[in-house]
Amino acid sequence: MMLLVYLFLLFTVVFSKSPLKTSYDQCIVGAGGGGLQIGYFNHMANRDYVIFEKEPRAGTFFEKYPRRRKLISVNKKYTGSTDPEFNMRHDWNSLISHNDTMRMTSYTDEYFPDAGVLAHYFQEFAHQFDLNIQYNTEVKRVSRKSTTKGDFILQVSQGMMDHTVSCKRLILATGIGRPNGIGLISGEQYVQQYQTVDLDPERFKAKRVLIVGKV
Ligand SMILES: Cc1cc2nc3c(=O)[nH]c(=O)nc-3n(C[C@H](O)[C@H](O)[C@H](O)COP(=O)(O)OP(=O)(O)OC[C@H]3O[C@@H](n4cnc5c(N)ncnc54)[C@H](O)[C@@H]3O)c2cc1C
Ligand SMILES: *[C@@H]1O[C@H](CO)[C@@H](O)[C@H](O)[C@H]1NC(C)=O
Repeated sequence: MMLLVYLFLLFTVVFSKSPLKTSYDQCIVGAGGGGLQIGYFNHMANRDYVIFEKEPRAGTFFEKYPRRRKLISVNKKYTGSTDPEFNMRHDWNSLISHNDTMRMTSYTDEYFPDAGVLAHYFQEFAHQFDLNIQYNTEVKRVSRKSTTKGDFILQVSQGMMDHTVSCKRLILATGIGRPNGIGLISGEQYVQQYQTVDLDPERFKAKRVLIVGKV
């Protein structure tokens, strides 16, 4: 048992870049596009920040979604313009940074790229700018010290270990928490949810299909 604990500690030390502290000025939960972008600006401003990500990598939303794998956000690489502002408006995927090669347009020529490329790009972004991300770290509970002006107290779980971290500021960038509409529609037990519905059109051949959704 002790050996396991030692191995685990060794693993934690080797694989997470900087050790987890007990307090930070700024805590960001989630290393999707939102968390990475905020993390980047914190990093550049030399702030005391951390990003908590429950998965082992950044950007894993796009490893699974959209399920048909083609992004609906355009990657217009050749705009005919050299104006960075103009070009950014035609690049719907990139995060903002000082490095022009750290753009989604450097990763693929496809106008509607495979979503996996965006996940990969996000992972490279986190790596290139050396963002302070604690991976495999899930924020389980958020509370506040005594008054509403007190620090945020986070219960985080990292492998087998639980830690308490206090944060002056807290930014939640956790994306979609749960499937849309759950518990709202009667008869929803008959509905197949987007995250698991069979993508093979054969199953729906000559059948009536009602798609319920909203944007
Ligand atoms: C089906 C679908 C298809 C889409 N297609 C596109 C598209 O083609 N192009 C496009 O531009 N946008 C698309 N979007 C929109 C896009 O996915 C979101 O706008 C974007 O991902 C939001 O980024 P985010 O960083 O807020 O959240 P996310 O990318 O979801 O990231 C949230 C992160 O937080 C982590 N996390 C969550 N809870 C915790 C916790 N308690 N502790 C630690 N970590 C946690 C998650 O693991 C995740 O990595 C699509 C959305 C959906 C639902
Ligand atoms: C920009 O990113 C590229 C690719 O990751 C890297 O080779 C280069 O050194 C970076 N340049 C700057 C100024 O950070």
